[in-house]
Amino acid sequence: MRTDTPPTVRLEDYRPSDHLIDRVELDVRLDPHDTRVTARLAVRPNPAGRPGAPLILDGDDLRLLALDLDGQSLAPAAFRVAPSALTLPEPPQRPFTLTIETRLDPTANTKLMGLYRSNGVYCTQCEADGFRRITYFLDRPDVMSIYTTRIEAEEAAAPVLLGNGNPVEAGRIEGTGRHFAVWHDPHPKPAYLFALVGGRLDRVSSTFTTMDGRAVELAVYVEPGKGDRAAYALDAVERSMAWDERTFGRAYDLDVFNVVAVSDFNMGAMENKGLNIFNDKYVLASPDTATDADYAAIEAIIAHEYFHNWSGNRVTCRDWFQLCLKEGLTVFRDQEFSSDMRSRDVHRIGEVRTLRARQFPEDAGPLAHPVRPKRYAEINNFYTATVYEKGAEIVRMLRTLIGERAFRAGMDRYFAENDGTAATVEDFLRAFEAETGRDLSRFAEWYERPGTPRVAISGHYDAGAQTYSLELRQTRPGAGSDAPPVVIPIRLGLIGQDGPLDDARSSRVTDGVFVFDRWDDVLTIENVATAPVPSLFRGFSAPVRVDMAMDDTERLTLLRHDTDGFNRWEAAQRVAARLMIGALRGEATEVGADAFAAALDSFLDARALADPAFAALVLSLPSESDLADDIGSEIDPDAIHAARYDLRTRLGTALTDRLHALRDALSEPAGTPFSPDAASAGRRALRNAALDLIAAADPTGGAACADAQIHSAGNMTDRLAGLSTLALLPGETREAAFASFAERYADEPLVLDKWFAIQAMIPEDGTVERVRRLQEHPAFAMTNPNRVRALVGSFALANPTQFNRSDGAGFTLVADTVLALDRANPQIAARLMTAFGSWRRLEPVRRGMAESALRRILATPGLSRDVTDIAGRSLG
Ligand code: PHE
Ligand code: ZN
Repeated sequence: MRTDTPPTVRLEDYRPSDHLIDRVELDVRLDPHDTRVTARLAVRPNPAGRPGAPLILDGDDLRLLALDLDGQSLAPAAFRVAPSALTLPEPPQRPFTLTIETRLDPTANTKLMGLYRSNGVYCTQCEADGFRRITYFLDRPDVMSIYTTRIEAEEAAAPVLLGNGNPVEAGRIEGTGRHFAVWHDPHPKPAYLFALVGGRLDRVSSTFTTMDGRAVELAVYVEPGKGDRAAYALDAVERSMAWDERTFGRAYDLDVFNVVAVSDFNMGAMENKGLNIFNDKYVLASPDTATDADYAAIEAIIAHEYFHNWSGNRVTCRDWFQLCLKEGLTVFRDQEFSSDMRSRDVHRIGEVRTLRARQFPEDAGPLAHPVRPKRYAEINNFYTATVYEKGAEIVRMLRTLIGERAFRAGMDRYFAENDGTAATVEDFLRAFEAETGRDLSRFAEWYERPGTPRVAISGHYDAGAQTYSLELRQTRPGAGSDAPPVVIPIRLGLIGQDGPLDDARSSRVTDGVFVFDRWDDVLTIENVATAPVPSLFRGFSAPVRVDMAMDDTERLTLLRHDTDGFNRWEAAQRVAARLMIGALRGEATEVGADAFAAALDSFLDARALADPAFAALVLSLPSESDLADDIGSEIDPDAIHAARYDLRTRLGTALTDRLHALRDALSEPAGTPFSPDAASAGRRALRNAALDLIAAADPTGGAACADAQIHSAGNMTDRLAGLSTLALLPGETREAAFASFAERYADEPLVLDKWFAIQAMIPEDGTVERVRRLQEHPAFAMTNPNRVRALVGSFALANPTQFNRSDGAGFTLVADTVLALDRANPQIAARLMTAFGSWRRLEPVRRGMAESALRRILATPGLSRDVTDIAGRSLG
């Protein structure tokens, strides 16, 4: 069993650093195997630290070549060195300069943390603790320094040399074939925001003029020959800059802003100061290679990283427990940006689907943690849906509670008061308290404990008194018995048989919001002329689960008449979920599949062509994992799959004429140029949602239709939708389509990822074998995170029946992959393992199989801290 439990870092143990580093001068001589880094650090004792404390610099896998202090080489007795630390037991009690030379092998760096090479391009990744793999340093975000970086490389191998901040100087080193560039970043920053890039890259650029009249040179760097695929990302940078000025009054603060796309990257992208480095999946787009979803993701992630320039960089985090301070806030900001660029209702529904698919299960399982965790063994395992997505929901609730005006003013104050510092969640909330005079201490509870609150609600209409009262009760599963009630903003309205009841009133509802902040409450609404249907949690105003006794006919009234788009969609989802769960339990529901189909038919008749993107969402049934989350325990994924398949078939059959008519009405004349805008994407989404149901009702006709679409499609969205539909229909047509797709896109790694993913998600017995076979495919590589995520990640996280096979073969496949990956790239191995996060909610046979796979992983000698942490907590 485990011998080494990873040491735990605790929030309560925080103390300021004993030393500060004001300036860093780095000299990096790039070489594939023998890179030399010389760091000159201006160190001084921190007045807030312990006087006379030793200087302990962090390292990870480092080799020290030379060390001197104020220009004198240090006697061996004056320091201790190991790959993981450099210690001066008795450093001078005054400012001094430490010069450290280390040697790195970027080609051998498969962890993709620190300095590494991706397809020959030198790049860095330092969040959360990768800078210590470049040089010995105080690698903690509350140590902020001004950096000057000189980068040198062979000119032919790396004609482009980029650093943080502004370019200062560049030139050739005559007679050596080498050249250099010097970059200076005037803004003090933590080491995790350091970056450099060196390589052969194409550049597309433009100029942006800030609201204060400064010209900024924008550039996106991509692999040679792919410049034409960078235009959309560049445009998204410009729109992000303009939006942040308009919406939050935030302007950019350097002369240049660079984005670099690399193909080997552990995460989505990274907000390094002035030099954002991206997984190329979130930069490269052309109609033939990227789907509408890809375009939307590029827009969102470009915005996200750019917005970090204020929420994360100018104001950074004091320690990693405060991660949500930058991530939750920045997700909220990018969601608002995307909502302004696209349809707000449609975007909100997408946000909530993501939250429910990823964060709710996390919060209900063994990996649950507070939005601000109190302890961690491996910080890289805390870049979670809870920190990001629930973190964003907290910011949104804050805005709902205090109103838009006060929210904007509070944000201004937060940026002004914390600019240039490393802040905490308390600093954030304090800005809003100062602005509004409110006490937010009870609201702060949202950060403190795990678990999704539940709100049980029942409504009573009193016709005589013309009142409608809502009885509310909250519980906090998973939060611990000492947890207090949370502050829950409920945006609400009442709907009558013919539309909203606008005369209804309550003194406890302000601007449509009721604040529910006790265990129990009763809200009475007056002047209610007829028995209403309540529309609660409009726009999903709080990240909670709601148990409302409401019959399906009432929900269908909401689908028809609610003015809140989110709740119209939610009503249809609830009815569909009840139908499927009812069928699986052998219970009857008051509205059957036929009545639901009839309601959908009239909804489509009235609204489909007016808002196709929204209609596509209404037509998409709750996913298998949504249903599993609703059911909550003793889950049998095969039964869920069967119930969902059955409802798709019934709806497809009942709506056939309508669906074919919609497809015709939405089809584009041949030769229409592709546009990724939201309206065009919405039309494609509805056509393809229709195709899905058509194929469920009529597999033969559906296969022909899907195959025809694959051949006629003028863009990747439609081609891939055709292939995804076909993927559910076993047979030769399908296999031929897979083969020709692979041939057509043999030289397009990002498209091949889609091909791997679709096959990994096939809900059939043969899929485990297929995935094992694809792991041997020449285009598959364990060293490329996108490929691992596409094939094994899709299998583990998006194929519930096959991953959870009752014979355990799916768990074994994923466990084998985790173990094979762990030594090379523990972060990706650990991420893959989170697929086991809901194992306790399975029925007993599958639960037992999952547990033994987890135990096998944990018992493997030499396991990384990343995987040990996830396996240990999953079993814990
Ligand atoms: N900070 C990155 C973001 O914008 C995520 C990230 C974390 C990237 C760690 C790399 C490593 O969300
Ligand atoms: Zn982020």
